[in-house]
Amino acid sequence: MNTPIPLHQLPQQNIFKAGDVFVLFGELFGRGYANGLVNEARQAGMQIIGITVGRRDAGNALRPLNAEELTAAELALGGTIINVPLMAGFDADAPAGEPTPTDLLGALTLKTWTEDKLDWAHIDKCQAIGVKRFTDALAEVMATLGEMIPAGRNVFFAHTMAGGIPKAKVFLAIANRVYKGRGERFMSSQTLLDSDLGKLILKNFDEVSANTFGHLIEASAAIRARAEGSGAQVRYSAYGYHGTEILIDGSYHWQTYTNYTQGLAKMRLERIAEEAWSRGIKATVYNCPEIRTNSSDIFAGVELPLIPLLNALKKENGGAWAQAQFEASQALLADGITLEQVLDKVLDFQRNPVMLPFRNFAAWPMPNSQLQADLTIGTSDEVQKMHRDSKALVTDLLSGLVIEATGPLIFRESSAPTGPVLWLNHDIIARQLNLLHA
Ligand SMILES: NC(=O)c1ccc[n+]([C@@H]2O[C@H](COP(=O)([O-])OP(=O)(O)OC[C@H]3O[C@@H](n4cnc5c(N)ncnc54)[C@H](O)[C@@H]3O)[C@@H](O)[C@H]2O)c1
Repeated sequence: MNTPIPLHQLPQQNIFKAGDVFVLFGELFGRGYANGLVNEARQAGMQIIGITVGRRDAGNALRPLNAEELTAAELALGGTIINVPLMAGFDADAPAGEPTPTDLLGALTLKTWTEDKLDWAHIDKCQAIGVKRFTDALAEVMATLGEMIPAGRNVFFAHTMAGGIPKAKVFLAIANRVYKGRGERFMSSQTLLDSDLGKLILKNFDEVSANTFGHLIEASAAIRARAEGSGAQVRYSAYGYHGTEILIDGSYHWQTYTNYTQGLAKMRLERIAEEAWSRGIKATVYNCPEIRTNSSDIFAGVELPLIPLLNALKKENGGAWAQAQFEASQALLADGITLEQVLDKVLDFQRNPVMLPFRNFAAWPMPNSQLQADLTIGTSDEVQKMHRDSKALVTDLLSGLVIEATGPLIFRESSAPTGPVLWLNHDIIARQLNLLHA
């Protein structure tokens, strides 16, 4: 991918109707991106089917949801959940009686981790076991799913899986510094990537955030063949991230959150969609804007580019509703603080000479630097302090709006998709929102 390929036209088609099947491939959290698509599926009257990643018991064994967890999850989804654990990644897998990769990380210390070496032959075995566990469970899920889909029904598979941070104490401390550390607490993300610890984490990100999409496409081949044989159509979507064009000084510019170590896995996800597309499978990765969710809260400052979405709402012919979003945002700020001050602070951050070298699409995902981390995390902190309540931020409001817009954009574009990798930038998000609230 040499340049971003933005979606510029509001997609108009919708092939999905009552009785068609929507499959959510990942769990649904209250603030997650998937809510946008689930809402569309509900509105279309589709049958909604979900999966679970399962839960770990006290002995770390993976188990299905218990009755109470299953009821709660099905209620939140508004659909049926196939209760076979689909936890991806291999951080907690190992041959019987041998240490898991997370156990191996337990031997690393904060003093020595940059030099500590891991046993790669053993890790390869753990990875093979983790992948087999996942693909075996997926085959079981697909067998059940196949029985739930009547002939002639279109099927929409929405992939949402991303993650893979191992639950090792040493890494949680390092992650806090790589993603949130400034000043004396700054830690170079390149140092992490150069270490054995970093290499293990990147492999696990690949498994969770990218390879699961490939497994989904392969494991649903029989469902796809049967649906297409009965005149129906099958679509696949996945959420990517590869920077976003936002409004800076009157025009849209590509920028990115740094440092996004998961970016290598996201590029792998793009390649999986491209490869499927080349075989005639309609699979599209939608590269989406930075928003605040359970998964992104670890990245301090990731939310900053979201704030100029307000200006995009105006530029894209926003009317009374767009104005109401300015007022609602102003109401969240502390006494004496204006929304203009917040917007100025974020745009000054974007224009800062320290940040400009990071707007380098070809070099993405770039490692952090001391100056960049200080500025990104410092600005995030200052913007947060401009609010009345740190638990009710302008970026919470705007995250909800972005989710609302991505629902119809992805749902409709996937009806007649124009390519395997598309960017949903602030222009199209703003136009979709203005249309929804006209
Ligand atoms: N939040 C952002 O700024 C942003 C931006 C662009 C793209 N995305 C992407 O959107 C998608 C949804 O993320 P979100 O931010 O809405 O957060 P979220 O926390 O709501 O969703 C994360 C998803 O990953 C799944 N998951 C986590 N660990 C897993 C594992 N080990 N195995 C299998 N599944 C696992 C969860 O079940 C959940 O469905 C992700 O692909 C994410 O990378 C997010």
